[in-house]
Amino acid sequence: MCVYGCFLTSSVLLLSLMASVCSQTCNGPFIHPPHLLVRYGDSAQANCTTTDNAVNMIGWETPVGAASEGGAHLLWTVASVTEWALTDGIQCYTVSDTQGQCLHHLNITIYKPPARVSIHVVNDVGEFVEGQLVQLQCVIEDVAPYDHLSVTWFKGQQQLSHAPISNTTVHGDRSENVTVTQTLQLTASREEHGAQYRCEAELQLEGLQTHLVKSSAPLWIYVLFAPVINCSSKVQLLEHERLPNCTAEGNPSAKVTWFKGHQQVDPQSALRRKDGGQYTVMAKNSLGDSNQTVDIEILFAPEISCSMKAQVKENDILPKCTANGNPPPEVTWSKGHSVDPLLPLSRAQGGRYTVTARNGVGAVNQTLNIEILYGPVITCPPKLEVRENEALSGCVVDGNPPPEVTWYKGNHKSNPVSRQFDPMSKLGKMDGGSYTLFAESKPYASVHSTVDVVIISKGNIISMSGGCVLLVVLFSQIFH
Ligand SMILES: *[C@@H]1O[C@H](CO)[C@@H](O)[C@H](O)[C@H]1NC(C)=O
Ligand SMILES: *[C@@H]1O[C@H](CO)[C@@H](O)[C@H](O)[C@H]1NC(C)=O
Ligand SMILES: *[C@@H]1O[C@H](CO)[C@@H](O)[C@H](O)[C@H]1NC(C)=O
Ligand SMILES: *[C@@H]1O[C@H](CO)[C@@H](O)[C@H](O)[C@H]1NC(C)=O
Ligand SMILES: *[C@@H]1O[C@H](CO)[C@@H](O)[C@H](O)[C@H]1NC(C)=O
Ligand SMILES: *[C@@H]1O[C@H](CO)[C@@H](O)[C@H](O)[C@H]1NC(C)=O
Ligand SMILES: *[C@@H]1O[C@H](CO)[C@@H](O)[C@H](O)[C@H]1NC(C)=O
Ligand SMILES: *[C@@H]1O[C@H](CO)[C@@H](O)[C@H](O)[C@H]1NC(C)=O
Repeated sequence: MCVYGCFLTSSVLLLSLMASVCSQTCNGPFIHPPHLLVRYGDSAQANCTTTDNAVNMIGWETPVGAASEGGAHLLWTVASVTEWALTDGIQCYTVSDTQGQCLHHLNITIYKPPARVSIHVVNDVGEFVEGQLVQLQCVIEDVAPYDHLSVTWFKGQQQLSHAPISNTTVHGDRSENVTVTQTLQLTASREEHGAQYRCEAELQLEGLQTHLVKSSAPLWIYVLFAPVINCSSKVQLLEHERLPNCTAEGNPSAKVTWFKGHQQVDPQSALRRKDGGQYTVMAKNSLGDSNQTVDIEILFAPEISCSMKAQVKENDILPKCTANGNPPPEVTWSKGHSVDPLLPLSRAQGGRYTVTARNGVGAVNQTLNIEILYGPVITCPPKLEVRENEALSGCVVDGNPPPEVTWYKGNHKSNPVSRQFDPMSKLGKMDGGSYTLFAESKPYASVHSTVDVVIISKGNIISMSGGCVLLVVLFSQIFH
């Protein structure tokens, strides 16, 4: 609290005299409230009181509502505060026999919430071209006090804490109501296209319960910009699908065209497997064009290309069965169980095989008949006993393809003129002897075997091994 003892002259003179004249110590007067916060146009009052019994006079030094009288208190009342000079404050003084003149100052804050807060574009042409400077102006009309005003900018929901504010201009007397214009500067860009801006004015007054906040209506920014293509540079598609949806952002909206080489292609047509490769997407609007290359890979399920049957030489491996597909399929073989196609095949391994080709897109299988080729084999004992008038049996000739079998009687190579022998015909008494059996199937080397044929005459059974009759029955594969 500030207490002075002075002579009252006029408030202006008083201030200059205070330092020299004021000498006594004052106790009072006191003002309630100690500080006055009043809205422009509202009523105001302040109560000046003194505890000094020797006071002769109490009065208010003020441009409006002045009065003075004797007594211990004096009320200052204004029905409607419209005098901005009151913001300098008013004084209550007392004149007393003991303390002389005493004075107390009451600070007054007159506030006026903004009448209107608006936002607009400086030199608005409706739309901006990318790169252009944009100035947004926030106009806060008819507000006081200026030094308690804060302006906040918002882009969408986000407060711009470090907004590049180019300037703030104030119209009117700063001790009264003012109109404040704040300019925000930004560069038109595709990111700003469609952005929403607004500004908010707030009066921050201590002692006021409610927050005095007023927002402008939102303002949308429209920016013209050349197209930007949003498309992945590598795309995998299934056969029969269409080219991907490559969006191109642009204002005005861009026209998207696809090229393969220099040939324009219809993105709506179904793709075939041979349509994979490098494409160019071009997006164009009145502001320019932009291109992007897109690698298209066409995926398709496997297709097996191998014949339904195959001949394989013994000890060779299964034939190569190629499968076409993208991604390249994995080819597996099975014959009831899985089979390693790289293992050499034995003559027993012919039969029906299943080839399966599988990739990420699908699987396909095919059955295959495998025939194993192997050279002639003769199985013949060194000696054969044949009853008279019966056919020769007991020699087996195997091979694939079935070998051609030739019999010779006598010493084979050294006796090439021997007559050809038909083992199916009945053998006579005189037909015993050494026979040579040749088996041949191209391209295999021919094989031969020599057998001693003994003819057993009727009623003259020769027992070779202690009375047992030798019966040879193997005679199946000689001729197919
Ligand atoms: C002013 O203050 C005096 C002394 O405290 C009191 O009697 C009086 O009622 C007050 N007047 C008003 C209007 O508050
Ligand atoms: C009144 O305002 C002046 C200057 O603004 C300040 O120095 C003083 O402390 C204020 N008095 C009260 C009682 O708030
Ligand atoms: C101050 O307020 C008056 C009305 O009370 C108005 O006419 C005037 O335009 C305002 N001044 C400013 C700078 O806002
Ligand atoms: C400040 O803004 C006003 C318009 O309100 C403009 O005329 C002036 O040139 C600007 N000053 C600067 C330095 O930007
Ligand atoms: C590009 O397109 C994808 C898918 O349509 C989308 O998720 C993404 O946000 C877009 N990116 C840009 C920068 O527009
Ligand atoms: C492309 O867009 C069209 C229409 O918006 C939609 O029907 C189609 O499914 C989209 N294709 C792809 C691959 O996203
Ligand atoms: C895009 O491609 C078209 C056609 O090939 C060409 O005329 C144009 O100049 C290209 N634009 C850019 C930005 O590369
Ligand atoms: C072969 O394909 C058929 C149908 O396409 C399927 O039923 C069968 O299980 C497949 N066989 C093998 C061995 O994959």
